[in-house]
Amino acid sequence: MIILETQKLTRRFDKFTAVDALNISVASGEVFGLLGLNGAGKSTVIKILTTLLPPSAGRATLAGYDVTHQPDAVRRVIGYVPQALCADGSLSGYENLLIFAKLYDIPSKQRKQRIHDMMEFMGLQEAAHRLVRNYSGGMIRKLEIAQSILHHPQILFLDEPTVGLDPIARSQVWRLVQQLRADYGTTIFLTTHFLEEADSLCSRVAIMNQGRMIATGTPTNLKAVLSKPNATLDDVFIHYTGHELASRVSYHDTVKTRRNAQRLG
Ligand SMILES: Nc1ncnc2c1ncn2[C@@H]1O[C@H](COP(=O)(O)OP(=O)(O)O)[C@@H](O)[C@H]1O
Ligand SMILES: [Mg+2]
Repeated sequence: MIILETQKLTRRFDKFTAVDALNISVASGEVFGLLGLNGAGKSTVIKILTTLLPPSAGRATLAGYDVTHQPDAVRRVIGYVPQALCADGSLSGYENLLIFAKLYDIPSKQRKQRIHDMMEFMGLQEAAHRLVRNYSGGMIRKLEIAQSILHHPQILFLDEPTVGLDPIARSQVWRLVQQLRADYGTTIFLTTHFLEEADSLCSRVAIMNQGRMIATGTPTNLKAVLSKPNATLDDVFIHYTGHELASRVSYHDTVKTRRNAQRLG
């Protein structure tokens, strides 16, 4: 079953086209990865799909609801973890989750249990009553993911979920993504520039370049197009864009994330 579909989805900022006639379809239960250099248009796509930014042309539907005409219905079926950190450092993890439980209208009798279950699912139960400013980057990311799935959304959007995390925290977040899909059947739409991880986790990926989608498919199929033995997704990315991904993106985004992390503290 198709749960997310875009048709010629387009977003312009004045004369600049950030997202250019994008056609995507995602089946229920997929982990779909949007890959691209900085400025390719990935975050803009996520902002349109989460109803935060109206499209200039084209359409998008999520669980059958149109982002332009039924934004409230769309918001009820989605969760969103933005690229910049969004937890409050001066509150405990529990208190952060309580704010979101209220925001999502979880009945007051269920809130405590739901938060407890989610903290346990995330492996954060020990830290529930510690201030978030004392959390590690990986714990904050997990808390933010917990915040965005308290209401059990059908589709979860993760914008660069592992940027700025050390390799251990990164692999924990990716394991969580797999667990979410297995335990809750959540469809996951994420952006990343860690191609190796996208390769092992995503059922399908789309490569974006300057607002356009230039390739889409399962990692296996995309690699098979190159007539190179043991081709990686990095090879696929270079083949289509002429650029290497990791070295171009990570520094800038990591600095940005660190600044946000400092702001929390
Ligand atoms: N609000 C905005 N106003 C003008 N330009 C924007 C705005 N948001 C994004 N852009 C531009 O659109 C392009 C795509 O940005 P973005 O979607 O953030 O890319 P990515 O997430 O792939 O790095 C960039 O060139 C960016 O500068
Ligand atoms: Mg972005």
